[in-house]
Amino acid sequence: MRILVVGNGAREHALVWRLSQSPDAELIIAAPGNTGIAGLVTCHNIAVTDMDGLVDLARLERIDFVVVGPEAPLTLGLVDRLAENSILALGPGAEAARLEGSKAFTKALCAAHQIPTAAFETFVDADLAKAYVRARGAPIVIKADGLAAGKGVVVATNLEEALAAIDHLLDVKLGGRIVVEECLFGEEVSFFALCDGSRALSLGAAQDHKRAFDGDLGPNTGGMGAYGPAAVFTPAIEARVMNEIINPTLAAMAQNGTPFRGILFAGLMIEPTGAPRLIEFNVRLGDPETQVLMMRLEGDLLAAFLASARGDLSRIPAFGQKGAAICVVMAAEGYPGTPKTGTIIRLPADPGPMTRIFHAGTGLDTGGQLVAQGGRVLSITAKSDGLAAARQNAYDVIDRIDWPGGFCRRDIGWRALDR
Ligand code: AMP
Ligand code: GLY
Repeated sequence: MRILVVGNGAREHALVWRLSQSPDAELIIAAPGNTGIAGLVTCHNIAVTDMDGLVDLARLERIDFVVVGPEAPLTLGLVDRLAENSILALGPGAEAARLEGSKAFTKALCAAHQIPTAAFETFVDADLAKAYVRARGAPIVIKADGLAAGKGVVVATNLEEALAAIDHLLDVKLGGRIVVEECLFGEEVSFFALCDGSRALSLGAAQDHKRAFDGDLGPNTGGMGAYGPAAVFTPAIEARVMNEIINPTLAAMAQNGTPFRGILFAGLMIEPTGAPRLIEFNVRLGDPETQVLMMRLEGDLLAAFLASARGDLSRIPAFGQKGAAICVVMAAEGYPGTPKTGTIIRLPADPGPMTRIFHAGTGLDTGGQLVAQGGRVLSITAKSDGLAAARQNAYDVIDRIDWPGGFCRRDIGWRALDR
């Protein structure tokens, strides 16, 4: 089997690393990949939004199976384009990718099928939205309809903030529509289900850390770390999520004529009562959650991904999940604002058998020295029998990384370990 992995983050580095262990993976290539991925497989410098370029590459390299990491190519219809060329791919077509591409679409689907989520209204008119927000009061959540790379949500703690967010997010570039919704309280969990159009198989859950600094302080980021298993996510809660959220969504999508295949990532709020509510869907794996999943999942991932793409998971056994894993993201100083790039990174020669250093925004300078080139730069991911030991392994390796231009949170996993 010849495989193309699309994407350039630590998520894709972890996927390439894991898939390359499969005996059925005859060849793996990546586009565009990154410096870390290039240490494992050949990378082709084609952007994730270049649909023609990616299809041409897959044809030229006689690729059998494409694993798509990020959401942009999914919402642009890469999987449909590949299917037209008889190339299998993991992920939904453009129609089903609307579960991530349009928050208004997903909220309407939840309302029509009694899927538990925050109460909401959709607006295209700022005055009507403001009147609604004034009537409801704060805290309240304002969301742009379309993809906004993590910058489309404002959890407003007061009325002024909410009104300003309406003006800011009601932007044609973000879909020209906003969703205003009830603020939920509880513990957030990322849950991943591999789907074949009608069935779902659990890939497990992880908890992300969205804020930049220790103690969950500072600005929101793409994710500064993750760990699994997530203590709040008991088997009973997982069963409820499957019954109340994932399966009804698959049924609704199939009924609409747009069956969902690929990875359904449910961002959940587990309320203090234990009731799960959907915050949002993504139609792909999470970053940094994937780094944790790839260290813990047991079983034949490639066979399961292929079965999802082919639309029949019936013969794939449930995944085992072993031990605990934790991922600590190292970011360049300045992130999530303007990260300082070009700073030199010296990695330890051998991080040891329990730890992997996955790359995201790294590059090589003219002298071949590893340097920072983006915001989130490295994902130090460690496993062990338990979470405390996994965390120790991760921070031991971080302490051996010589990179004065980078920073990380020191408290990843605190919800499970430090209270
Ligand atoms: P989203 O892009 O929809 O995942 O939102 C980004 C973050 O905003 C989430 O991870 C939550 O922390 C927060 N958030 C979104 N919607 C809500 C809500 N209804 N109540 C509370 N927090 C929310
Ligand atoms: N870690 C959250 C995401 O990938 O969207």
